[in-house]
Amino acid sequence: MSNFYVTTPIYYVNDLPHVGHIYSTVVCDTMARFHRFRGDDVYFLTGTDEHGQKIQRAAAQQGVTPIQLADRVVERYVELWDQLGMTHDDLIRTSQERHHRAVQEMVRRIDAKGDFYVARHEGWYCSGCEAFYTDKELTEEKHCPVHERPAEWEAEENVFFRLSKYQEALLAWYDQDPSPVQPRSRRNEVRAFVEGGLRDLSVSRTKVDWGVSFPGHEGHTVYVWLDALTNYISALGFGSDDTSLFEKFWRSEEPDDQRIHLIGKDILRFHAVYWPAFLLSAGLPLPTSVVAHGWWLVDEKKMSKSVGNVARPDHLVEEFGADALRLFLLRDMVFGQDASFSDEAFVDRFNSDLANGLGNTLSRLVTLSRRAFDGQTPPVGTEWDGALRQFAEQCAGDYLSAMEESAFHRALEALWRLLGETNQFLVRNEPWKKLKNVEERDQVACVLASGLEAVRIVASALLPVMPSTAPKVLEGLGAPTVGNESSLAWGGLPLGAELPESPSLFPRIDKKKYFAAAEKQAEASSAPPPARKSDPDATRAEDSPQIDISQFAEVDLRVADVKAAECVPKSKKLLRLTLDLDGVERTVVAGIQQQYAPEDLVGGQVVIVANLKPAKLMGIESQGMVLAASVDGAAVALRPEKRVPSGTRVR
Ligand code: MSP
Repeated sequence: MSNFYVTTPIYYVNDLPHVGHIYSTVVCDTMARFHRFRGDDVYFLTGTDEHGQKIQRAAAQQGVTPIQLADRVVERYVELWDQLGMTHDDLIRTSQERHHRAVQEMVRRIDAKGDFYVARHEGWYCSGCEAFYTDKELTEEKHCPVHERPAEWEAEENVFFRLSKYQEALLAWYDQDPSPVQPRSRRNEVRAFVEGGLRDLSVSRTKVDWGVSFPGHEGHTVYVWLDALTNYISALGFGSDDTSLFEKFWRSEEPDDQRIHLIGKDILRFHAVYWPAFLLSAGLPLPTSVVAHGWWLVDEKKMSKSVGNVARPDHLVEEFGADALRLFLLRDMVFGQDASFSDEAFVDRFNSDLANGLGNTLSRLVTLSRRAFDGQTPPVGTEWDGALRQFAEQCAGDYLSAMEESAFHRALEALWRLLGETNQFLVRNEPWKKLKNVEERDQVACVLASGLEAVRIVASALLPVMPSTAPKVLEGLGAPTVGNESSLAWGGLPLGAELPESPSLFPRIDKKKYFAAAEKQAEASSAPPPARKSDPDATRAEDSPQIDISQFAEVDLRVADVKAAECVPKSKKLLRLTLDLDGVERTVVAGIQQQYAPEDLVGGQVVIVANLKPAKLMGIESQGMVLAASVDGAAVALRPEKRVPSGTRVR
């Protein structure tokens, strides 16, 4: 049994929770439940980030004190986590006394190491990020690259942390095998940033008094990120009289013990650069992993209050339950990449995976078994089907390894593959045609028992993801809920057991009716209408500004032969294509790697914008652009219906 410590980011209290915050917490809760399922000793922490300029300003705008604002928002978080079935062991608030003590202890340790100095500091600050930016990092209009709002020029005398001193140690940390920063693309990103040179970091503020006071520097508060990051150990008792949790979950040196910070990609630098550097300076162990996920996008943009595209899926939870939302979030986002959130995608997933996939398979099997065996599962002594067993064992193995790698979408895919195969197995064996035939009774028993067993394994594996519905599925199969890994082994279905009438757990959502009702309700309450799947490229053609034919004629579209194609190193999206255009070779970089393997393209043709000014993409000069239709953000390349001479114009 190993110790497994998992943390969510602590959430700012200037705004109510939305689907992005829910996602991070659902992922951690699923990891926590999965590790308990595997028999690990788990500690799961979440919390709220309550200090700093951003909160101070939000409170002032609302005419309340920062702590009043925090109390109000924390209440909402507590309710929400309860409603969504989160099993965190603690919820830390940075305004708590225990946290203040830990931050001050951290500051004292770093100070004792000689890693602070005082200097005058000037720079561009974004209070949304609570971070300074260099001129180069800001947009041309001096806007923050994340919040797209003006950064503010700040000048004050600050305490600085010698971050630059830790450059080599950090690089060595990233280079461990496996790297503690996951997925690999994020490790590469952060490594390149650190390799580019680290500047010392300002870690105190004099203009913000809502924070932890900086020991030894009157009038200074601790920079909000040094404060916030320390939550991961203050919640374990660091700096207090009782450090038993800290010793067990942070300081332990056992090779299998894990300390994982799950974060969104927006806060990678803070967790993979600043935090390990602070810990190194304080002489404390580093996390074993920092795992970053992508963003839920609405209308192809990260959700944000200022953009006005924040999705709060309360209505989905109310109507379809927390488990359906949990499944949707884990299944629809390829872990690590961005995904689009919409009610429509949710409804589609519900209908395909729950109503059809799981629900129908379950009720089909239960109904058949009840008919054939007098309201019971097949009788004791029934043989299992070897082929389905083998398939199920393969899927259970794939599920386990994907869960270990935080590839939740793949883990769930493996389970639905098993459901798909179970249905095929039924179609192949047609037990419904043999129910009355005494001679085929053994065969019917084998088919139904094996089918029910496959669904039992799926339901058992779903316990960490759908903690309140999976036990209902098991109950529907006449099987007990065994909350550990042994339940994934083939053969756990009780034979000759009472089988209750098939429960209707996931009634199909009538999409048309759902959207008609939701839109009506939105109209009546003047709330925003429910989100349909969206794609900015798929806006209505009649909304596009018109151009005249001469403007169009300026664009030189040509057909080109694809001579060679390869993935651009370190990029998940880009392919480098070598094209022939009427005897002249060109290199074009195209963002279509997710949809096309190089071998799908070589020997074929594509359409390109041939007179586009060359641009560098990942260091490669691209001489043109491949045309593709954008379907929900996925590229479908345009190719001539039949082969035409390379260089042919497209009009
Ligand atoms: N308070 C800091 C974190 C401090 S951790 C020591 C913070 N808070 S936040 O309220 O802005 O929430 C950040 C986290 O919420 C992100 O890192 C991510 O985990 C999650 N999400 C917020 N918006 C998101 C999306 N649109 N999509 C997915 N998750 C995102 O930053």
